[in-house]
Amino acid sequence: MSVLSLKGRDLLSLADLSQTELEAVIDLASSMKSGSVEFRSRKTLGLLFSKASTRTRVSFSVAMYQLGGQVIDLNANVTQIQRGEPVKDTARVLDRYLDVLAIRTYAQSELEDFATYAEIPVINALTDLEHPCQVLADLQTVKENFNGFEGLTLAYFGDGNNMVHSLLIGCALVGMNIHVATPEDFQPDPAVVRQAKEIAGDRSSILITNDANAAATDVHVLYTDVWASMGQEDSATSRVPVFQPYQINDELVKRADPEAIVLHCLPAHRDEEITDSAMEGKHSRIWDQAENRLHAQKALLASVLGAE
Ligand code: CP
Ligand code: NVA
Repeated sequence: MSVLSLKGRDLLSLADLSQTELEAVIDLASSMKSGSVEFRSRKTLGLLFSKASTRTRVSFSVAMYQLGGQVIDLNANVTQIQRGEPVKDTARVLDRYLDVLAIRTYAQSELEDFATYAEIPVINALTDLEHPCQVLADLQTVKENFNGFEGLTLAYFGDGNNMVHSLLIGCALVGMNIHVATPEDFQPDPAVVRQAKEIAGDRSSILITNDANAAATDVHVLYTDVWASMGQEDSATSRVPVFQPYQINDELVKRADPEAIVLHCLPAHRDEEITDSAMEGKHSRIWDQAENRLHAQKALLASVLGAE
């Protein structure tokens, strides 16, 4: 199996991958998970994170160790960035030390600036606009459960945030239908919806609605995320009543296909966007999904580093 096609490439948006490339990363992730394929890369990954993280930080770190490389944790608070060193200076210096850089920050434009000034691969480890690494693992989890994507529909409930933006693009790339149910004032960015529709063409459909029950009917994947993302904590309390109709609970799960799976990127606020029983119930694949962050990112790192 070749992983060289992404060598040197950035992943700033999931749309940076073609359908073939995305599916190759997912398949490589599954092969690495089963142990049928192993790659080595004695390289150095920098993790430059300006927001909290459990899964992304740990799964990237373990992935790099398992590849035989090392990780430098560059929490933005302990670098000169917090004292005002410009991105274009930091990026050119880190480029001279590191082999790959994963960045978690607020503005997509800051990530793009890093990618402009650093020649090494730059990976989006979450911005306000997108979370592509999460969707690599999500799609791997869908494929593990349904053996493919054809004829499947994913329904997302809640805030029109970074998570649903990457899901819109990911579903369009692999040809899955997607329903997005949000409150009226919290719809996804229309520019991302347009982009996803262009990618999907006539292979799959995109439905944006305010009707959670209609969105859930007969779907194969039910997905949610927090109602207030990192940086939106001030509005968390006022959002609760607005988002309540979009909670994933046992009644909503019953509307879906009997074999439907429930996903959540985590961290979850139990009994807000998802009930405890939906998280712990028989439809939940949330822990497999979290595990797949490790395999999907290991496959991505091997691919952009050109591991052997
Ligand atoms: N899902 C996810 O990215 O989790 P963390 O914020 O813990 O990294
Ligand atoms: N939408 C969430 C995702 C966390 C993984 C956030 O940005 O906080």
